[in-house]
Amino acid sequence: MKQLTADELREEYLSFFASKQHQIISGASLIPENDPTVLFTTAGMHPLVPYLLGQPHPAGKRLTDVQKCVRTGDIDAVGDPAHLTFFEMLGNWSLGDYFKPEAIAWSYEFLTKHLEFDPKDLYVTVFEGEGSIPRDDEAIALWKAQGLPDDHIFPLPREDNWWGPAGETGPCGPDTEMFIDTGKPKCGPDCRPGCHCGKYIEIWNNVFMQYNKTAEGTFEPLKQKNVDTGMGVERTVCMLTGKPTVFETEIFQPIIEAIDALSTATPDNPELAIKSKRIIADHMRTATFILCDPKGGVKPGNIGANYVLRRLIRRAVRYSRFLGIAPGFTAKIAEVISAKYRHVYPELEHNLQTCIADLTAEENRFNQTLDKGAQMFAKVAEQLKLHNQNRISGKTAFKLYDTFGFPFEMTLELAAEQGLEVDKEGFEEANRKHQELSRTVSAGTFKAGLQDHSEVVTRMHTATHLLHAALHQVLGPDANQKGSNITPERLRFDFTWPEKMTDEQIKQVEDLVNEKIKAAIPVEKTMTTVEEAKAQGAMALFGSKYGEQVSMYTIGDFSKEICGGPHVANTSELGGFKILKEQSSSAGVRRIKAVVTNLS
Ligand code: ALA
Repeated sequence: MKQLTADELREEYLSFFASKQHQIISGASLIPENDPTVLFTTAGMHPLVPYLLGQPHPAGKRLTDVQKCVRTGDIDAVGDPAHLTFFEMLGNWSLGDYFKPEAIAWSYEFLTKHLEFDPKDLYVTVFEGEGSIPRDDEAIALWKAQGLPDDHIFPLPREDNWWGPAGETGPCGPDTEMFIDTGKPKCGPDCRPGCHCGKYIEIWNNVFMQYNKTAEGTFEPLKQKNVDTGMGVERTVCMLTGKPTVFETEIFQPIIEAIDALSTATPDNPELAIKSKRIIADHMRTATFILCDPKGGVKPGNIGANYVLRRLIRRAVRYSRFLGIAPGFTAKIAEVISAKYRHVYPELEHNLQTCIADLTAEENRFNQTLDKGAQMFAKVAEQLKLHNQNRISGKTAFKLYDTFGFPFEMTLELAAEQGLEVDKEGFEEANRKHQELSRTVSAGTFKAGLQDHSEVVTRMHTATHLLHAALHQVLGPDANQKGSNITPERLRFDFTWPEKMTDEQIKQVEDLVNEKIKAAIPVEKTMTTVEEAKAQGAMALFGSKYGEQVSMYTIGDFSKEICGGPHVANTSELGGFKILKEQSSSAGVRRIKAVVTNLS
């Protein structure tokens, strides 16, 4: 094995695929463009979705890059040897060009000849088949042709060997994954690549992208057969250098050293010490990359990506307390992370000051919450003692958590210190009830806003903004949106208006929308706060919280609305606009049904 650093591995990978006629392209922002189905970029293929679906890429049919990725689905597992919320993915793509034979041959060549892994340590898995999609015998034969013995090739079911889509819809397909055997003993007789015990570490995945998952949940064949691959930088460096975990690699070393230097206490439980360091290192790296991202716009907050960021910072702060790390540490760790990565990601230098300001503000806010929570806890404990009781009810623990933001684990710890019990089940019950309620409330919003992002639906979203603005212009400012519903067949728009619109008014509205489509006006998206958007005259329909970051879509000087999107980039993409019906919806509310017509 070559003892490569992350810098050397990136270099080696990109030049290998450049030698196979791949164009090296830049990785994209961590904050996805035009895809509200995911909060962050989770894979190298993500920014390439339009090209995997058939749009020609300006750089050609063979691409390679390094992509920053954030995956927070397993945030609670961070602290173990393997989980990370941020990682770098090396990738190579064929956009309807080469397919399985080249992808597998090049993977084998790169792993064994360039990284110099011993073929004896290399294991692969392939798709075992399901329903009408057969076992991937072609991939098996191709691996064998490279010299891999039968007992290093494992056909596995869909949950192991099918990748994608990244969000709810999009390109996906069967894959073949490559593992390195660490030499550890098997955890049991069924231990095999894909087992999570840590014996076999997956470092690379080749996806044979042949299908598009639709909003209806069906799989339709793609126009072109693609290859999408992803190699994890951190894991591969770990395997190359024979370190026990990624946290011992040169990638994390300076961060762990900085955490050690700031620590003034060692928890009694040595596992907690290790876990705390890993959580701080991982979460701070992710938070720093998010806050420095060139696209910007994600700040600690209470919803979506903002909430994920808040959780990352707060968990880091919480675990810093176990190590006796003084307040103000987030800035110091961010500086170390910036120094480590700025030559590869210049945004970590350019945006460091605002990143540090945001981290510090959130750190301070959360420290206040923790202090306040501790005071509240002290009151609770005092009351219990006064009444000769020693059990904190689930309801009280939930109130500390929900009203004062005091983490439940802190309640457990303080209780243990004071010899008090906590009704854990009661807490969980209260929490579950609360979550069910929030889910019911948010399900409505989710359905209305994020259901479908097909091209036609996207065009109708923008048409709805034009219609709303046109109604204001023709009828006046009292024609206000009451509801909107979009399906691939039509848009439906309800608005306040006391009487039936005249044929003349309907025609004026339709003509005005078509005029704006013909004028080919760019649709601009900006991230802002609700107050700023309203100050600029944006129509803001739903009760967003003050200070919350929102996206505002501006269409020339004609329309400005706060909206979750998706929208086209230019009104010309709508083709044309036709009102099908104007009817009553309820007392004082009219309803328009309309369609966008085909692009000419
Ligand atoms: N998109 C594939 C993955 O993330 C390569 O594993």
